[in-house]
Amino acid sequence: MNDQKQKEVVLSGIRATGSIHLGNYSGAIQQFVKFQDDPDVDCFFFIANLHSITEKIEPDLVLKGTRDITRVFLAAGLDPEKSTIYAQSSIPELCELSWLFNCMVTVPTVANMPHFKEKKDLMQSRGTKETAGLLTYPILMAADILGVNGTIVPVGKDQEYHVELARDIARSFNSKFGDLFTLPAASIGDFIPSLQGSGKMGKSSGGQTIAINIAADELKKIVLTAMTDPARARRTDPGDPRNCNVASYHHIFSSTDEVTWAEAGCMNASIGCIDCKKVVLKNLEALIAPLRERYEEVARIPDKEIDEILHEGGIKARKIVMAVVGEAKERMGLPFF
Ligand code: TYM
Repeated sequence: MNDQKQKEVVLSGIRATGSIHLGNYSGAIQQFVKFQDDPDVDCFFFIANLHSITEKIEPDLVLKGTRDITRVFLAAGLDPEKSTIYAQSSIPELCELSWLFNCMVTVPTVANMPHFKEKKDLMQSRGTKETAGLLTYPILMAADILGVNGTIVPVGKDQEYHVELARDIARSFNSKFGDLFTLPAASIGDFIPSLQGSGKMGKSSGGQTIAINIAADELKKIVLTAMTDPARARRTDPGDPRNCNVASYHHIFSSTDEVTWAEAGCMNASIGCIDCKKVVLKNLEALIAPLRERYEEVARIPDKEIDEILHEGGIKARKIVMAVVGEAKERMGLPFF
């Protein structure tokens, strides 16, 4: 199977929870759009709705979220004619593959994954117990990736070790049962920190997130009230850009000249934090304005049309996954009798 494959296979997913924020966009979706325009790759982008129920099952929200994220994909520039766009729930064989992998991975391996530890603590602090689905979350991810024999996985930094696990599973399967899976590699996008302190901007990590269709005045409020280096208590106090998340935003969203200006101005106190934030705000608004506009357009697409896109993509991706899972089962002595 490996020998037949010439093109890179790019695959990634987004959970159907909450609104899509700048972290999801810069870390993942922006990469999706770039890969889509590369003629040497086949692209698979999906809504990870099965991964959306590991903490809480809210049927209406997950269904709405699945359609919303499909709309965000379209607003960001993904094109169902160029990329296979689908929902994880359209491919039952992914759960089957995930089960096969569950039997190859030890409990300590998944229990020690940072994602599990963080989420477990969060759930326990809310008085709930972690689910088995949360524990095996990365194994279902491995099934998503290996089910289409994905070779490149565009994700944010926080997902890198999950792609590593998929790689380990592929290697272990190939050595035990013969080469079937190509070893996937992560393609890491920009890391977007929170603007209210430490940590990443996240759907569940607290703090405000910048939705990709955020209103201009809301964006302004978040950026202008962002935390900066505490050393800059007064305008005349010099600061250290390494202690400031606004400086990280400059590195991602500003021109080289603007970065130089902001860093020098911070270190010699020739500019105030507000001057510095205003430039980030200008650049973020330039990025978000067209997304906001396109999101307004796609919001008007009826659910029926969105479901049709997911249906078509689901059929296409499922065919590939079915063949891979059938082959994996055969090799493991588990034919469909
Ligand atoms: P989700 O929805 O939590 O995140 C989607 C993507 O957004 C990236 N991301 C960030 N990147 C940079 N800075 C941030 N602050 C930030 N916050 C989130 C995440 O790294 C991710 O790429 N488990 C996946 C969904 C998934 C998946 C897969 C991905 C399920 N199966 C198979 C790849 C391959 C997730 O984190 O979704």
